[in-house]
Amino acid sequence: MTSTPTAPTRAPSPVEAGTGRSVGRPLDRVDGTAKTTGAARYAAEHPHPGLAHAALVHAAVTRGRITGIDAAGAEAVPGVLVVITHENAPAMKPPPPVSVLNLSSLASGSSVNYLNTDEVHWNGQPVAVVVAETPEAARHAAGLVRVSYRELPATVDFAAEEGNAVPQKSSALQSGGARKGDAEAALAAAPVSVDLRFTTPPYHHNAIEPHATTAVWDGDRLTVHEGTQNITWLRDHLALRFGVPVRNVRVVAPYVGGAFGGKTMVWAGTVLTVLAARVTGRPVRMALTREGVYRTVGGRTPSAQRVALGARADGALTALIHTSVTQTGRTGGLPEQVTSQSRHLYAAENILLRQNLVELDAVPNTPMRAPGESIGTFALESAVDELACALGLDPIELRMRNEPERNPVDGKRFAHRMLREAYALGAERFGWSGRTPEPGSMRDGGWLVGLGVASAYHPSWQMPANVTVRLSADGSVVVRCGFHEMGMGGATAQAQIAADALGVPFEAVRVEYGDSDLPSGPGAGGSAQTASVAASLLAACEKLKGSLLALARRSGGSPLRGRRPGDLEARDGGLWAGPAGPGETYTAILARAGRDSAEAAVGSDTRVGKVTGQLRFMSKLLRDRRRWVKAACGAHFCEVRVDPDTGEVRVSRWLGVFDVGRVVNAKMVASQLRGGIVMGIGMALSEETLVDPRNGRIMNPGLADYHVPVHADVPPIDVHCLDVPDPTMPLGLIGVGEVSVTGVAAAIANAVRHATGRRVRDLPVTPDKLL
Ligand code: MOS
Repeated sequence: MTSTPTAPTRAPSPVEAGTGRSVGRPLDRVDGTAKTTGAARYAAEHPHPGLAHAALVHAAVTRGRITGIDAAGAEAVPGVLVVITHENAPAMKPPPPVSVLNLSSLASGSSVNYLNTDEVHWNGQPVAVVVAETPEAARHAAGLVRVSYRELPATVDFAAEEGNAVPQKSSALQSGGARKGDAEAALAAAPVSVDLRFTTPPYHHNAIEPHATTAVWDGDRLTVHEGTQNITWLRDHLALRFGVPVRNVRVVAPYVGGAFGGKTMVWAGTVLTVLAARVTGRPVRMALTREGVYRTVGGRTPSAQRVALGARADGALTALIHTSVTQTGRTGGLPEQVTSQSRHLYAAENILLRQNLVELDAVPNTPMRAPGESIGTFALESAVDELACALGLDPIELRMRNEPERNPVDGKRFAHRMLREAYALGAERFGWSGRTPEPGSMRDGGWLVGLGVASAYHPSWQMPANVTVRLSADGSVVVRCGFHEMGMGGATAQAQIAADALGVPFEAVRVEYGDSDLPSGPGAGGSAQTASVAASLLAACEKLKGSLLALARRSGGSPLRGRRPGDLEARDGGLWAGPAGPGETYTAILARAGRDSAEAAVGSDTRVGKVTGQLRFMSKLLRDRRRWVKAACGAHFCEVRVDPDTGEVRVSRWLGVFDVGRVVNAKMVASQLRGGIVMGIGMALSEETLVDPRNGRIMNPGLADYHVPVHADVPPIDVHCLDVPDPTMPLGLIGVGEVSVTGVAAAIANAVRHATGRRVRDLPVTPDKLL
């Protein structure tokens, strides 16, 4: 059942600048051996002489001021070097306020200046850090620090605060809503309608590598090993907080053990490890416990959503209403774009979308794989299924009858949209026609069997990237860009792209990444990294070939004399005039010119004119987005088995068909898409952060009580990509990181409804909700 995405059925099409020998092949990842043999070093695995270890002390109240700290017991533990609190910590600069004029300000996960204040803003906020010779001593001592507080009233209960939500304000990057026509009136007048409420719980980050930092000061120079998704933001943030020049800070992150948004912002553990190293004059490492991650790193907001749909008898939507309430923290957090997919998925005549917010005294929420669409598609795609039931229509047929030609809210064109094709292919491969629509009508022994579908949707983005490419006389190529490898295969993909652009073997290309001393790259976020780096990489390769041609033309005797770049193709390690024409290898060009290498750089280094470079890029991007709607989409097909006696739900079969533009590497793309589906299965069936409504304390901070899917919960997942390039994106890439988690929870809830006749609108779908 398990298979890699459809290998391109046609021959790999030529890329803009090369011959397509590497792009499209399901090559093994270049870092695979290092990872499987344990040679890859993660943030908490860097040895340093004299390394000390740090552990956090978490506030046990929700809001208030610290009135006293008794560290004597902790200080008496053998091996403890120091207990740092707000009473003895050196001053740091406060986190910069978030501003679109300075993108690295987005790194401020919270406005709290940890250990420079006696204020407590959430239950679990760090109030002290213990540094010791061993991690065990540090953790033990952290438990002995006694903190007293004067408590202040706190707002922590999301459900109770829902009625106090206020409309989200729109900004340059985020919109709080959209409106077309009069959706409420159309809903009231519709012959068939549904008007439904959905809720989703908070979810937390559980990357396989918990957050960890190793910090080393050498005078005023700082080196940080950290599994971050944005080394540039982290470097800039730490330079500012500790009052040293940006050039003095180096962030090294060659490997990141999963991140999903949870390692985009800078959280307390990172800052306090750097502070601890400053205070002790020693290299310091802090590896957060799972509990530490829950208490100090944001997660996905809970939500309450209304989706109301009105339709004519033939299924044509006359009204689509989607409103949401989500949470941010009093000290930070970005509003989740819960209605994002509802702007684009259905050709409703009247549309009303609105996002509302409550602010709680809680650790600020933070991006978590497809923030917004993950939970937004649960509500929208469940409601569409329910409308299909009300209409007596097949849920795929209902979707196809409402598939828009243009963007429903504003008539913009879609750059690329193949949802029809995804459903058609999926229905055939999954055997959708064998589904009998009546709930409870399909059985396998004692199990009720249900089949469900749902759409996946995620916008595609691009960010600025600086890339250099160097070609040496021996034919080897080095690509340098400070991007991130958190498991997606970025270095492998970029090596494939460079190999084709230059016409060299994949094996000849080495990619350097994950170091802030490299030309700065984009963060790994928004599913945008591969396309963003590829755009600059392709431009750099063109520039490099141009310089090599110029070099050849300048030196006598080259067969390339008189040739123009447009006449030439890059293949076989050189430039040639067509498939049979004359040409020569890069090695020959360099040898005749007496050079040992040639190099090209593209992008403005953010250390020079950073703000203007970023602004220029962003304004171009926003102009482009005023013309086009760009997104990845897909169709999920899911089969569940439900035990009618216990309410147990097993996902037994899965197929996802995705439109993610061109597929650079089918093996890695399939792996990413499967990972998103696994994460969605957790969202749908078992994951849920339990927050005590009296005090906001997270009650299940660890894998024993917060249940992520294990192998036994995950069926074979069949993934297919349509593999058709998006003509408006670099190399036709759309981005694959997030789309596959969207729609998953709805597909499961829809299948459960088909199996049992029970519609669960409150995630997760636990057995108690089916009995
Ligand atoms: Mo992401 S949630 O853009 O890592």
